[in-house]
Amino acid sequence: MPIFFNSEKKIFKLDTKGSSYIFAINEDGILVHTYYGAPIKDLDLGYLNENFTTPGICPKPHYAPGGRFTLDTAPVEFPCTGTGDYRPAAFSVRSAQGHTATLVHYLSHKIYGGKPALEGLPATFAGEDEATTLEILTEDRHTGIRVTLFYTVFEDLSVMTRHVTVENPTDTAVNIERIYSTSVDFHTHDYDVIHLHGHHCRERNYSRTRLDYATHRISSLRGASGAEHNPFMALVSPDATENYGEAYGFNLVYSGNFAAEVNVECYGSARVAMGINSDGFNWLLEPGEHFTAPEAVMVYSNEGLGGMSRTFHNLYRKHLMRGEWLTKRRPVLINNWEATAMNFDGEKLYEFAKKASELGIEMLVLDDGWFGKRNNARCALGDWVVNEEKLGGTMNDLVTRINALGVKFGLWFEPEMISPDSDLYRAHPDWCLHIEGRPMSLGRFQLILDLTRKEVEDYVFESMCRVLDSANIEYVKWDFNRNFTETGSAALPAERQKEVPHRYVLALYRLLERLLNRYPHLLLEGCASGGGRFDPGMLYYSPQIWTSDCSDAIERLDIQYGTTMCYPPSSMGAHVSASPNHQTKRISPLSTRGNVALEGTFGYELDPSTFTEEECETVRAQVRQYHELYDVTHFGDLYRLVSPFDGDRDRSAWMQVTEDKREALVTLVIIRTHVGQRQYLRLCGLDPEKQYRDVATGRTYSGALLMNAGLCLNTLVGDGASRLIHLVAED
Ligand code: GLA
Repeated sequence: MPIFFNSEKKIFKLDTKGSSYIFAINEDGILVHTYYGAPIKDLDLGYLNENFTTPGICPKPHYAPGGRFTLDTAPVEFPCTGTGDYRPAAFSVRSAQGHTATLVHYLSHKIYGGKPALEGLPATFAGEDEATTLEILTEDRHTGIRVTLFYTVFEDLSVMTRHVTVENPTDTAVNIERIYSTSVDFHTHDYDVIHLHGHHCRERNYSRTRLDYATHRISSLRGASGAEHNPFMALVSPDATENYGEAYGFNLVYSGNFAAEVNVECYGSARVAMGINSDGFNWLLEPGEHFTAPEAVMVYSNEGLGGMSRTFHNLYRKHLMRGEWLTKRRPVLINNWEATAMNFDGEKLYEFAKKASELGIEMLVLDDGWFGKRNNARCALGDWVVNEEKLGGTMNDLVTRINALGVKFGLWFEPEMISPDSDLYRAHPDWCLHIEGRPMSLGRFQLILDLTRKEVEDYVFESMCRVLDSANIEYVKWDFNRNFTETGSAALPAERQKEVPHRYVLALYRLLERLLNRYPHLLLEGCASGGGRFDPGMLYYSPQIWTSDCSDAIERLDIQYGTTMCYPPSSMGAHVSASPNHQTKRISPLSTRGNVALEGTFGYELDPSTFTEEECETVRAQVRQYHELYDVTHFGDLYRLVSPFDGDRDRSAWMQVTEDKREALVTLVIIRTHVGQRQYLRLCGLDPEKQYRDVATGRTYSGALLMNAGLCLNTLVGDGASRLIHLVAED
């Protein structure tokens, strides 16, 4: 039984094949945490909490003022504010009298097969025999507010998910001021913390720091999860590497303002917590209402960072991402943005598609600039009406011509936005997020639509449908290009204004769900100025996300390395772009641009008419290769071999291996060549007993040899040079 309750000792034990998680109900009904880590058989770990420091200065519970128990230092499952626990709290409720002292006590629990959906929120899902759930009902005795803690274990995956719901069964309104989705106390802080930081064009770079007596906090207040910090955090043992050591990964299934923190308290324990950012947040809970906080995913691995990442990838591929495009082969697409920006017409697009089709490229994605009067970024967002003059006909005319070339068609939208210079704004100036009388900041000359208003949500949905119904559009790139400011809604009362950021995210999810219900065959690619909203929430709707507006192959090594910490390679939109690169001006060989893009969902982002005949041949070969290697790149297990952040930051290497270990693809990229530098790569994840043939050279090696002595790639020299090695097991 993956979840077990010992009623005599009042202990819960949650087991997966790779982890155990244990906590107990104490004499007063407080849920006290005892263990999270590698699987153990033992149950009663209360001794771990027996002798922790509890100086007289610490507040003690009223029923045992002379006892040892104190919330000041006790590890607890769901810490609250104002009742003796001074570390970051998961929950705080403001009573009708204005007080925020909160403390939840156990009332009852149930255990069942499967996993409940989260109302209005994306979440991992599982059949009845794939996961087991524990629901614990608790109550704040003073206010009568009830909180249900949900724990689901995915037994075969070493994964636990947690989320929380709050209900108000009383007859007075309260305010939820703070609600995290998970909080885990560790007895020691002997860990490094890893998180992913960055900015536009440099998302999800890897950072690793030793924990110290302080709070390490990452967050977003931008309205989206953001490029600056990703809602991911890991605690790893100081000796953890890709293949060895302990790693605890935490990832929030949420696309809005979040916070994740690890606090080391004065006596040395550590608390990791994650959820909706409490800054700027408040939720009024009227009598009879309930609130659901998003899901947090927790992975434990004692096979290093690689083991942690592969567990996340497996979970997301099997239990989060949905729809036919998860397994159906994704077309090689070409996007016109970096080649033309908004300077195109129907004829140019047709020529683009024609050239692309000669190269084997399967889909043209028309990016920004096809609607309203949009010829620059200053206008027309919200006016989702096809600019027939620019296209030289209807959308259907264009798409029909392109389809006749054997090329599919995809379209860019930025549905959540409104330009002040738009027909929509002129008709509905109060439809944007704003505060009456306060000047509005512009981001990229645009404002954000107030999706919390049903009529606005409906307008966006209907205007998108009108375009999508008018032609054979098989793909949508859903963009989001500015951050929240002056976050107010004209439709909500004063006491609900701090609900706007969360209500907005709920409306966004509703809109995405409506779109996918209406167009179940649509391939959706998420985007937010590149990878500014690359999170598990968006992955639930879009199986691929544009990883970054920086398409430079060398910069992408850092970005893709960090992204794979928790997101599957198949979710990373990765395109071959022009050289010198549009953003960095760096020159990279076409082969390397292709090899790096092959790690993710492959495509092109350049003008195909600029290719020489030799380059055309290379592109044809790259497209063929994408299809030949699809199973291994798309469904394979990822092993990061050399980090671009390590050592001299002079190379990066990774490999993907099919589940049956019969096929592998190894990629090595030299960032900076050193004369005479040896290039040995010890591989991972192969079957030591199998013989593998290098498809290019015909040479065979045993799996054991490749994993111990490794490949010798000393002939690979030159900044930006790269090599793919395709290995196939001999029968
Ligand atoms: C954002 C996206 C780009 C492109 C432009 C269009 O920057 O990230 O890929 O779609 O918008 O305006």
